[in-house]
Amino acid sequence: MTSLLSVDPAAVFDSGRLIAMPTETVYGLAAPINRPDLVARIFELKGRPASNPLIVHVGSTEQARGCVREWPALAQHLAERFWPGPLTLVLPKANHISDVITAGQGTVALRMPDHPVALAILRVSPAPLVAPSANLFTRLSPTRAEDVSAVFDSADVEVVDGGPCRVGIESTIIGLDPATKTLRWLRPGLISQADIRAEMPADWRLELPPAGQEAAPDAPGQMREHYRPIKSLTVVVSERPASAIFASATGEEASWVVLPLPEDAAAAARQLYQALRQADQADGERIGLRLPPGCRDDPAWEGVLNRLAKAATDWRDECDPVS
Ligand code: TXA
Ligand code: MG
Repeated sequence: MTSLLSVDPAAVFDSGRLIAMPTETVYGLAAPINRPDLVARIFELKGRPASNPLIVHVGSTEQARGCVREWPALAQHLAERFWPGPLTLVLPKANHISDVITAGQGTVALRMPDHPVALAILRVSPAPLVAPSANLFTRLSPTRAEDVSAVFDSADVEVVDGGPCRVGIESTIIGLDPATKTLRWLRPGLISQADIRAEMPADWRLELPPAGQEAAPDAPGQMREHYRPIKSLTVVVSERPASAIFASATGEEASWVVLPLPEDAAAAARQLYQALRQADQADGERIGLRLPPGCRDDPAWEGVLNRLAKAATDWRDECDPVS
């Protein structure tokens, strides 16, 4: 146990409970990869389908290498450049990584989180830790310890408070296929396509999902109904003031909870889930959210737009100024 930790991870796991672990992106529900009982408990507590694979969190690059069959030079390079940090690498898995963790796939997702408490937990844990976001399936990911405690019983989950998450949306996920030297863009996050392209050798290529599709077919768990607030959410891309947009949409402003999001993409990501959570608890019946007009052309917004595309029930582009 280190001074950063109020709990002894091994003791928590021995008692049959999970740890809600703070990371820089969102809180994760953690269990050691070599504890099938606790890994199964994660799926059970979250209501998560078995077809949705888990990310393995590591405290060192050596631990990551121990989870894979192949560790190409590009994986080493990306790990050195972005770890600890909000980047998940999907690679051919080692035999000892269970099919339950990978949802039967031959690959495993790996990441080293950039949070002192997560790293302290990983350092003293008996093995690398699987950790999906610590939310119920399809619901908003938690960015504060209270968000986790509100959903899971302390008899099942030991919540370790590491303060509010700095990034606020889940990690960028890329798949590395060493056989074809292909990088697959599986989930956008704070680390952008440009950040990754800048690190790619000339003999690798980046494969994007087909236009109109949110993710490549081999990215299970990237389904539409994800990251949702409880109320219906309308997103409008417009220069007009938010309240004007939502008032004119129905003629009755009072039924809308209007969410102001910062115009800066990183700040918007940091506040997104918390803002949606508060809007869910507020009085109005529906949530309305305005995005700045340039967001679609700005790569910094890709992660937020991706989450909102899944969260929104309605999406409008109102580029014409009101007459
Ligand atoms: O920032 C994050 O990544 C957070 C924190 C806690 O680290 N974790 C997170 O986990 O977002 P989760 O379970 O909510 O999302 C993990 C996603 C899966 O839904 C799936 O799309 C993808 O990772 N994934 C996991 N293993 C994969 C694999 N072998 N191939 C393709 N995608 C995979
Ligand atoms: Mg999740």
